[in-house]
Amino acid sequence: MAWSPVRAATAPQAPEVDTRGLPALAPGWAERNPLREVPLAQAIGRQAYHQACARCHGVEADGSRAPAPDLRRIGKACQRLQDLSWRERCLSDSDHFFVQSVRFGKKKFDIEHMPAWDGVLSPQVVWSIRSFIENAPKP
Ligand code: HEC
Repeated sequence: MAWSPVRAATAPQAPEVDTRGLPALAPGWAERNPLREVPLAQAIGRQAYHQACARCHGVEADGSRAPAPDLRRIGKACQRLQDLSWRERCLSDSDHFFVQSVRFGKKKFDIEHMPAWDGVLSPQVVWSIRSFIENAPKP
């Protein structure tokens, strides 16, 4: 079925995932993904992604479900940067873009293309999803 903004308008549902094993995070939104290297976060992120994001962004974050963008591209170019401090800066920028997109959704000309997840997904779940996507095989 083709994607339509009408489907997008349904209220976002919190995925059912057990985050108890994850390290506690400082309150608020970190500047960069604090769970990037945590394998458990990648596993939890995969479950949450499948419940909340896959129907629009593709089943294994593989970009198979256009027109929602392939999320593996976000921050991909950072890996090519040789200079470590530039790479870190690049990853922080991508993390920021990712978090803002997820929290506040995407609206164009008053049509909601992606719902806002602020208050629905905790920072632990959002960062876990980001960790899963970053470790998905690259396009
Ligand atoms: C109802 C469909 C839908 C759902 C569900 C959805 N998205 Fe999206 N998302 C979109 C569309 C469509 C866009 C592109 C919107 C645009 O560019 O204006 C988008 C854009 C994004 C972007 C920005 C990507 C870019 O390259 O510009 C991110 C990040 C994102 N989504 C993450 C997520 C995550 C994480 C989830 C699950 C928690 C999710 N989305 C759930 C439809 C959806």
